[in-house]
Parts: sequence; C-alpha cells; structure tokens
Amino acid sequence: MKLRVAILPGDGIGPEVTAQAVAVLQTVSDICGYDFRFDSHRIGGAAIERDGTPLPERTLSACLESDAVLLGAVGDRKYDKCTGEMRPEAGLLALRQALGDFANLRPVRAWDAIADCSPLHEDVVRGADILIVRELLGGLYYGKPRGFESDGLSAYDTMRYHVDEIERVAHVAFQEALTRRKHVTSVDKANVLATSQLWRRTVVEVAKQYPDVKLEHAYVDSFAMQLITTPARFDVVLTENLFGDILSDEAAVICGSLGMLASASIGGQVALYEPVHGSAPDIAGRGVANPFGAIQSAALLLRYSAGLFDEAEKIMESVERTIEGGLVTSDLAGRRQRLACGTETIGEAVVENVADLLQSQMAYHAV
Ligand code: NAD
Ligand code: IPM
Ligand code: MN
Repeated sequence: MKLRVAILPGDGIGPEVTAQAVAVLQTVSDICGYDFRFDSHRIGGAAIERDGTPLPERTLSACLESDAVLLGAVGDRKYDKCTGEMRPEAGLLALRQALGDFANLRPVRAWDAIADCSPLHEDVVRGADILIVRELLGGLYYGKPRGFESDGLSAYDTMRYHVDEIERVAHVAFQEALTRRKHVTSVDKANVLATSQLWRRTVVEVAKQYPDVKLEHAYVDSFAMQLITTPARFDVVLTENLFGDILSDEAAVICGSLGMLASASIGGQVALYEPVHGSAPDIAGRGVANPFGAIQSAALLLRYSAGLFDEAEKIMESVERTIEGGLVTSDLAGRRQRLACGTETIGEAVVENVADLLQSQMAYHAV
C-alpha cells in the first residue's frame, strides 16, 4: 500500500498538532509494512511570509499530485486587517475549491471518559453521535459579486446555490446516513432565504431515492438550540456552508473541546483532512494544543482516501484508550481536574496505543 500525503502544517498550532497526526500515520505505515510518504508544503500566513501568497503554486500542484492532503490550520493575527486574497484563510478556501471537495464531514461524539469536560450536563450529552455534512464550496463563501463599495461604507456578499450543488452534497449525507442510524436532519432558513427554499425543495427530491432514510427539516436558529439541548436525537445533519461552519464549532461543546473535532472534505479530485479548529494564536508555540482533532483527521484519511478501515478504527480506539487512561491536554482537564499533558506526550501515547493494537492484532492472526 503506497500513499502519498501532502502535509500542510500552516500557522499557529497547525504544525504542533499535525506533527502528532503524521507520527501516528507513520506508525501505521511501519507496523503494517505500508509505504506512506509525507511531503510538507506551505500554506496560509507561513506561505504569505515566504512566497507572497497564501496558496503557492507549488503547494497546490503537490496537493493535486498526492493521494490525500492533511492540513493543520491557517490564520495569523498579523493579517487581521487585511482583506481579500492576502489573508491566510483565502489560501484554504482556494485550496478547497481547487481540489473540488464539496462535502465536509465533521463527526461529533460525546466520549464517556471526558463527559465531565462539557459544560452541558452529562445526561444531555451521553450517547450523542452526530455527523455534520457541511456543503463546502458554495453559499456566501464563494458567491459573487462580493466586495466593498468605492466609498468603503458598504459591503456585500452573495448567497447563491445551484440545485446541482445541493443535490451532490445531499447524496453524500444520505449515503452516510445509510451506514449509520438512517436519519438526516436538513438545516436551513427556508422561512426567510430563497437559497434555503431551493435547498429544502432539492433535499426533499433527493430523499425520494433513499426511502430507508428518515428526513426531517429544521430552521437553523431553533436547530442551534436543539443541538445542545438534545444532541443525542440527531444522526446526520446536512447543511449549507456558513451554517455548517457555525454549528460545528457549537457542536464541539458536546464533546468538551474544539480540539477534539476532525474533518474530511471529500467529493473532489483529492480529499482534504483537517481538524475543525483554527490556528489558536492564544496558545500557539507552547506545546499545549490538543492534537486529537488532527489525529482523528488522520484516521478519516485512512478511511476515505486509502480504504484502510481497520487501521482507521485502530487509530480511533487508540484515541479512546489514551483519553480513558486520563491523558489529555489542558482544554480537557475538566471538572475531574485531570493532570494536563503537552501535545507531544499525547501524540506519543496515541502512537504507543496504536502500535500495541496493531501488533496484537497481527500476533492474533499469526496464530
Ligand atoms: P480557533 O479555533 O483557532 O480557537 C478558538 C478557541 O479554541 C481558542 O481559545 C483556542 O485556544 C481554542 N482551541 C482551538 N483549537 C484548540 C486545540 N487544538 N487545543 C486546545 N485549544 C484549542 O478559532 P479563532 O481563535 O477564532 O481563530 C484563530 C485563527 O484561526 C483565525 O485566523 C481563523 O480564521 C483561523 N481558523 C482557521 C481554521 C482552519 O484552518 N481550518 C479554522 C478556524 C479558524
Ligand atoms: C473552518 C474554518 C474556515 C471556514 C476558515 C478558516 C476559512 O473556520 O474550516 O471551519 O470558515 O471554513
Ligand atoms: Mn470554522
């Protein structure tokens, strides 16, 4: 099994958490006798500094030539006052578009071992297991026209969706639902927005091809409330780009930290894997960032880009074992006042657990 992975560490805590995810993938490669190759490239603020653009041509072509892309995070306070193409975030948006990844999968689950880390009551979060399917290449993020009026006193963005863009992401949500609890909640604002009316009408049509999947609709405002009052009620949540961005950070409250969430962006030429969180400038450079989101993104990479389902599962089990062993970063110290470990210590623990799980499985099969 040969796998070429383009690594884009990016900014802030990006390089810190990505290093741990790569170490876990390298361990899988070594123990299973695979040939995973990693090549690092610049993106975001790090690329603006050195190449004068947040997505250098060389980075993009390396991504397009790879089997999968693993990204850390982009964003730097230094560029807060910049607009348009000279922001680190513009590099990520251009990359998603160039790769063509229109479906962003963001799994969210409540982990028993850290249930006390959520500000929500343990009874509320227990059993929550949600897959947010966020449309990634449309809506306000990419709609044109956009910009500032010449006097600088007005600005505008365009929220636009074509029926084809809704159909293709809806199919992804229904397909995923078939492998889960067969329930899709489509989140929109159809009581106000034309794009949402088209969204709802299209999702209803697509649903007819999936008679085994139950479809329900929710308005985004009330859904934002239901998501944290009754999270265990939901299975697959399908929504447009901006709503998905906001709701996924909110959903992080269910598992106790934004650092726990991973994502897979699929549907295009090459899939892109990244934790949901950003560059966290407030904690960057201190070695304290939670690497579990990045490590789980590596598990998603093995599952969706390499078809290595068992190895992906082993990574997930290793994350769970590590948490159950009480090893967490400070964002997950929780009410039980666990001892906070550094990013590298967590990465090493996951590596050890994954090696252990893979080796015992091999020993079992050898008997
Ligand atoms: P953020 O996600 O970086 O941080 C929000 C809060 O969560 C901060 O308090 C941070 O310390 C904490 N946090 C985030 N990840 C963590 C981790 N792994 N471990 C422990 N704590 C963690 O969001 P922000 O502060 O609003 O944005 C910072 C920058 O990141 C901005 O430039 C933004 O545009 C960018 N951003 C990038 C991505 C991405 O690259 N995919 C995603 C979101 C935000
Ligand atoms: C995310 C981020 C990005 C987004 C930014 C950094 C462009 O917030 O991946 O959630 O809004 O999609
Ligand atoms: Mn976001």
